[in-house]
Amino acid sequence: MRWLLLPTVVVIPVSLVLGPTERAALPPAFPEGPAQGQAMDVSAAACGKCHKKIYEQWKQSLHSQAWTSEVYQAWTKTKSKPQSCYRCHIPMSVIPGAPKRPAARKTHLDEGVGCASCHVHAGQVWGPHGLQCKHPTKKSKLHQEGIQLCQSCHRVTPKPVISIGKDFEKAGLAAKGKSCTGCHMPEYEDHVAWDPNTGEPVGKKRKLLSHRFQGRTNPEQIAKAFEFHRHEKGGKLTLRLENKAGHRLPGLTLRSYTVKFEVVDGTGKVVASQDAVISADKRQFLMLGESRTAEFPAPAKPFKARVTVRHHWKKMKKDKPQETGVVFKAEK
Ligand code: HEC
Ligand code: HEC
Ligand code: HEC
Ligand code: HEC
Ligand code: HEC
Repeated sequence: MRWLLLPTVVVIPVSLVLGPTERAALPPAFPEGPAQGQAMDVSAAACGKCHKKIYEQWKQSLHSQAWTSEVYQAWTKTKSKPQSCYRCHIPMSVIPGAPKRPAARKTHLDEGVGCASCHVHAGQVWGPHGLQCKHPTKKSKLHQEGIQLCQSCHRVTPKPVISIGKDFEKAGLAAKGKSCTGCHMPEYEDHVAWDPNTGEPVGKKRKLLSHRFQGRTNPEQIAKAFEFHRHEKGGKLTLRLENKAGHRLPGLTLRSYTVKFEVVDGTGKVVASQDAVISADKRQFLMLGESRTAEFPAPAKPFKARVTVRHHWKKMKKDKPQETGVVFKAEK
């Protein structure tokens, strides 16, 4: 079954949306695109026929797995009202009302947070530019700003999720020029669409933002959350691991990190060490602007200071955490 626009949605014939001059700028016609007066197929698979690369990125992201995730499915089975979980895991569109929470949808559940959840409203495709193309588009501030769109689902706390969106707000990071998309949708250059019949790219390559939405599942992204500092004063050596993400660590109660601070002498031998934990258990979060520190008596020179962060993960609250590996290592 196709995930079609809801009946309340107005289908806008392309001819009404584009004036004659704008039409001249249309990319080559796509026979498989939405025909005049026809409802647009808004399933991610349909968008992916033309937006091939973005579709592949999204497929790898957790957004596409928000419903099929084995962990999510296991958790909903423990809830007496699993329907309360649906709105963010199989959402309708978050536009135009973001950061209001979306309603749940009833079709194409396997697509989780799909293209239409972030892009389609009332027969129009909302995007950052307002380009004229085969489907009607609307230039949208929500897509340029890259915060409120995300906050619809990321600033609420349904267990095991923690509202990291509120951390971002409290720290006033938007005023400092930060955004969710700024850290989670890195820039790359490519075509944005391909003709589904000929396989030819449409238009020129340009700067785009990745739909891979890297997070806790990527060790390289996790590494970006940390900064290591070394400080010597008054016969004391202080080592400090600082949170550089846009919110607390971790953002899910099922995750934790163990930290090892070490002092290594000139021959490479570890002469002192201290451990620390970052976890949601017993409220051992590493909040924004906070650090884990270790103090040592100033060691004999030459020496090096080292920090190693390991990541751990469990499926259910009662499970024992499993180590997934080293996510951050630095030496100074
Ligand atoms: C307000 C939106 C919202 C609602 C409602 C919601 N979730 Fe989520 N859920 C999220 C977000 C956002 C994440 C990703 C959090 C992260 O990665 O830090 C998530 C992630 C999860 C995960 C981790 C999945 C994985 O693949 O690792 C589980 C489990 C989960 N949610 C269970 C639930 C359950 C059970 C409910 C209903 C009681 C629920 N959620 C309701 C937004 C929501
Ligand atoms: C979680 C929300 C979210 C989902 C899901 C999502 N997008 Fe986007 N998309 C965005 C945001 C935010 C931008 C704006 C990024 C920017 O400024 O370029 C964007 C931009 C785009 C653009 C414009 C690129 C450009 O610069 O011209 C296209 C095309 C696009 N998305 C297609 C898709 C397709 C196809 C899917 C599904 C496979 C999808 N998106 C899923 C949030 C989303
Ligand atoms: C028949 C091919 C085709 C299909 C199907 C298609 N698109 Fe597009 N889309 C395009 C082309 C072509 C552009 C303009 C590319 C350019 O000019 O660089 C575009 C542009 C966009 C933009 C940028 C809008 C802007 O101006 O900011 C977004 C967002 C987008 N598409 C999302 C989607 C979504 C979501 C779907 C599925 C509901 C979809 N598209 C289905 C071909 C298609
Ligand atoms: C409609 C709800 C919704 C919206 C809107 C949304 N997300 Fe999510 N997001 C989720 C859910 C649900 C998950 C968790 C899926 C899972 O783990 O099964 C998630 C997971 C993530 C993750 C974790 C990925 C990982 O690998 O750990 C990141 C990062 C993320 N979202 C960023 C964003 C950003 C940035 C935006 C705004 C452009 C956004 N999200 C908008 C619902 C949403
Ligand atoms: C300054 C960069 C930065 C900003 C701004 C930022 N993030 Fe993150 N985010 C990160 C890093 C780095 C990680 C990986 C750290 C980790 O989870 O181990 C991360 C992790 C996440 C995760 C996975 C968390 C978990 O524990 O499962 C989600 C979901 C997420 N971010 C969403 C958002 C949303 C939504 C916003 C905007 C409100 C946002 N981020 C703003 C850098 C940032």
